[in-house]
Amino acid sequence: MRGAMSETAQYLYENVAQRMRGLIEDGTLRPGERIPSVRRLHKQWSVSMTTVLEAYRLLEDRGFLEARPRSGYYVRATPRVVLQEPERSDPPRRPQRVRTDLVMRLQAEINAADVVRLGAAAPDLDLLPQRVLARKVSEVMRRQPRAAHTYCVGAGDEGLRRQIARHMVDAGCSVGPGDVVITSGAQEALYLGLKSITEPGDLVAVESPCYFGLLELIEALGLRALELPTHPREGVDLDALDEAVRKRGVKVCALVSNYSNPTGCCMDEDHKRALVDLLRHHRVTLIEDDIYGDLPFEGPRPRAIKSLDREGLVLYVSSFSKTISPGFRIGWIVPGHHREEVLWLKNITSIAAPSVPQLALAAYLGDGGHERHLRRLRRAYSNNMVRVLDAVGAHFPAGTRATRPNGGQVLWVQMPRGVNSVLLSEQARAHKISVAPGVLFSASGRYEHYLRLNLALRRDVAVDAAVRTLGQLAGAQLT
Ligand SMILES: Cc1ncc(COP(=O)(O)O)c(C=O)c1O
Repeated sequence: MRGAMSETAQYLYENVAQRMRGLIEDGTLRPGERIPSVRRLHKQWSVSMTTVLEAYRLLEDRGFLEARPRSGYYVRATPRVVLQEPERSDPPRRPQRVRTDLVMRLQAEINAADVVRLGAAAPDLDLLPQRVLARKVSEVMRRQPRAAHTYCVGAGDEGLRRQIARHMVDAGCSVGPGDVVITSGAQEALYLGLKSITEPGDLVAVESPCYFGLLELIEALGLRALELPTHPREGVDLDALDEAVRKRGVKVCALVSNYSNPTGCCMDEDHKRALVDLLRHHRVTLIEDDIYGDLPFEGPRPRAIKSLDREGLVLYVSSFSKTISPGFRIGWIVPGHHREEVLWLKNITSIAAPSVPQLALAAYLGDGGHERHLRRLRRAYSNNMVRVLDAVGAHFPAGTRATRPNGGQVLWVQMPRGVNSVLLSEQARAHKISVAPGVLFSASGRYEHYLRLNLALRRDVAVDAAVRTLGQLAGAQLT
């Protein structure tokens, strides 16, 4: 099925979908019009029926087509409300001490029953490869009891590190098992990275808005955060970073390179290269968090910034929490020159990552079914993006804006000023809906009228009804 027919499509069906989408966008195929049947396109474009069907389903998921029973596929007639994207952020140019007390409350809701979980960015259990993981865990317990029950000290299980090194080839990185240190999720990897290269009081440049777990670490380590102006599609403003390094003495920059949290922003390659040039010029270290990089909605996986780094200025961090199992708590860091420090810190904080999940994951990744699982996940998240965006467009107050990410797991919604998203999240809780209020994502109390919405939901979750309730609550705050 792989085909290299266009620059951005990875699979042949994506290429077919792109061509068909082009015909819709240039008006050749008009709203309400029936498009060629699967059989006809199969003959006309010389591609298999399965490929055409996959392409049509993709376009249906993206909201370009609708399937009518026993009739075929039609160009979607009802125009969707197209939301503008949120504005580029404009945070204060001063470093901040961080306060993050709301986060614990959001985390408490992760496992609550009967809640529509639009809040925490944790995948629904049913989206994870549960059955195969259960099999792998039980095989590990039976076949490798010694390894399962002993500390996996040092950098972690070698078999898993080998699989991770292989996995990173997709992100354009060539690292060996010896470069990887296994951690308890990406959160510990971020902690180890930050702690090994900073002293209390140091300044960390971050995106704005920014992943709140990073802000918590900055707070706990006695560091200061400098929020950088950030475009929701293009990423951090490099001129602002350059100025911050020159005038404020930024020690380290920490950001999510691909499908960031909460904006879903994926920096393009030129931007990544320019960032690496800037790091090299000023000898500043970057902690790159690539936890969402395996989740493009279309086309190939984007490169990691690490893949462009020739001087060891990038510490790479990721985990399998968004794609395989958050409960396994398996992440990793490629610490480069800081390896000894990271290993020492890891040893004194947790001795070793748990052995059973490491061994089970190594076996799972070695089996070769992971790419298929990722495709299913990408499809589910991308469908949900369209469903949630449609619902936000239909039910939120006029003037609402939202990102339209090309991958990842979250949407960032900018509501009209006057809506208080902390209040909204409390009101929503009474309706059994969780959301993440915007202020979580800032060190300076910004984004009061923003929300982050999780897309890792099952297909049968009543998204439209939940988003309608949120929209009504937001609207009521404005009147
Ligand atoms: C950007 C980012 N980094 C790190 C983490 C933490 O990941 P883990 O659960 O692997 O510790 C998250 C979790 O939401 C995240 O969104």
